[in-house]
Amino acid sequence: MNKRPYVIPPAQLERLKDLSLFYPCSGEDYYDAIAVFSPYITDFWFVDKRYFTLRSALDCPPVLRRKADYELLDVKVEGLPLFRSRDPHIWPCIRTETYKHLPSKRVIRIHKRRGYGYSTMRYEGRMGKLGVFFYRGDSSGEGGSGDHWLRKSKLSEIYTHLVDGGLLALDGSNGGVNSQRHSQLRGAYKELFKYFYSWTNGERLTSKQLVEGVSAFTDEYNRHYECIGYAGDRYGPTMIWNVDRSNSAEPLIPSYEKIIRDYDNPTFDRFWLTDRLNRIKGFPDGLEKPYRIRKERLRSRRRYSVE
Ligand SMILES: C[S@@+](CC[C@H](N)C(=O)[O-])C[C@H]1O[C@@H](n2cnc3c(N)ncnc32)[C@H](O)[C@@H]1O
Repeated sequence: MNKRPYVIPPAQLERLKDLSLFYPCSGEDYYDAIAVFSPYITDFWFVDKRYFTLRSALDCPPVLRRKADYELLDVKVEGLPLFRSRDPHIWPCIRTETYKHLPSKRVIRIHKRRGYGYSTMRYEGRMGKLGVFFYRGDSSGEGGSGDHWLRKSKLSEIYTHLVDGGLLALDGSNGGVNSQRHSQLRGAYKELFKYFYSWTNGERLTSKQLVEGVSAFTDEYNRHYECIGYAGDRYGPTMIWNVDRSNSAEPLIPSYEKIIRDYDNPTFDRFWLTDRLNRIKGFPDGLEKPYRIRKERLRSRRRYSVE
């Protein structure tokens, strides 16, 4: 199948200027999120527990090295550059690449963070307010996170970080506790999973037909969902939803401490275990060294050296 063009409604995106996009369990799937949102979003947070476990953050190729529309300006590494331990409590690391997006002349930052998705959402103070929650291509099977980000309670938690009128970009992966076809096709959020759980996965439809093929709906908290775009395919088409919460009655979210007590064997980013320093001061002692990477040209080839 030929690649379908993106559907990006510009008027909707103006208000996302200078906010963050958060994509947990992102693996190497960077480009659609960046291409669709880089005229608007400033900080892109890609979070995966396997980042910099085989190769040091000081020595990995820039994410957009093959993209002519982006010029790399700077690279910075914070935290432990390589972490091979089997210890389930991860020492985080953030590699931040700063680019100029040449068509819009905007500066964007791509943060690749080694860490757990949930810990990052709860404790990564640097991430700030979200304009977009991006999540796709994940599963409960081998290699997938099994984290049910689209469960009702998790969506409510996401909304404590997403601005009102922020967007969800989802292919319907890891839909909920019973992410089987029959239950997702009945539930309140069924439109979010429409293509993921259909036999054809929306494959014969154009981008425009995909957007028109799902219906707006309101959930039990009076949040209104409207599909406004399409951001490429992963396990299914990635649909962009505008969530209007101006009249919503948000449920109480249990405190993080309570959520943690409810698990028998929780795993965290070390930040949380060490202290909740991250929100206030930055990295805990011993992880404070920020490395910088200098870009050079050597016989007309690019080289990166560590300062
Ligand atoms: C099936 S891959 C999908 C990657 C990406 N979404 C894509 O479409 O290519 C799932 C990824 O989630 C990561 N992962 C698994 N559990 C995680 C967790 N709790 N927090 C963050 N990342 C996790 C894995 O390392 C893996 O890269």
